[in-house]
Amino acid sequence: MKSSEHIVHQAYQIQASDREKSMGQKGQVLWFTGLSGSGKSTLANEVETLLHSQGRHTFLLDGDNLRHGLNGDLGFSEADRTENIRRVAEVAKLMADAGLLVLTAFVSPFAADRAKAREIVGSQRFIEIFVDCPLEVCESRDVKGLYAKARQGLIPDFTGISSPFEAPESPEIHIHTDRSDLAQCRQTIVDFIPS
Ligand code: ADX
Repeated sequence: MKSSEHIVHQAYQIQASDREKSMGQKGQVLWFTGLSGSGKSTLANEVETLLHSQGRHTFLLDGDNLRHGLNGDLGFSEADRTENIRRVAEVAKLMADAGLLVLTAFVSPFAADRAKAREIVGSQRFIEIFVDCPLEVCESRDVKGLYAKARQGLIPDFTGISSPFEAPESPEIHIHTDRSDLAQCRQTIVDFIPS
């Protein structure tokens, strides 16, 4: 039995469309997915900075930060990652309902979890961005030193090493961070966002 079984939905008088009107933009979720070190956070930050400078209303949710707060009780087992992504999708949906352009930067390695996130947010305002970069390149960058530790067996279930990354099959945007420079990647994404 779901714990929400005896909870009845309350109707809101102000709808998402009312908030979008007063915000002057459509609520959207830009869902960045890719290996650790692929450039998700860097790119999401760049995109947010550009959008912000254009006067658009944005919010960035980043895995490394949310795992210190809202998702601080979760680890990296398959079940915990699924719950991590479910919570992020629910938060992103609320923020998009508020009329924000929400950017999420999470490894989100499992296709089923991303599909569920799309369902929660609503397909019409979910933009999946595959931040693609070969494992060897991510590993050679090893900005946080985590790949070296994972190779030594010090970090279990590390994506790309001892836990799978299921590449998106039909993302709205496919970026190759090892081949294009940051400004190009950023522009591709910003051009895609409906005004
Ligand atoms: S997700 O798989 O549940 O989407 P999330 O994006 O929140 O992951 O967190 C990934 C970040 O946590 C990585 O960027 C990395 O810095 C760190 N990390 C620590 N342990 C792991 C691990 N086992 N697998 C992947 N990333 C890890």
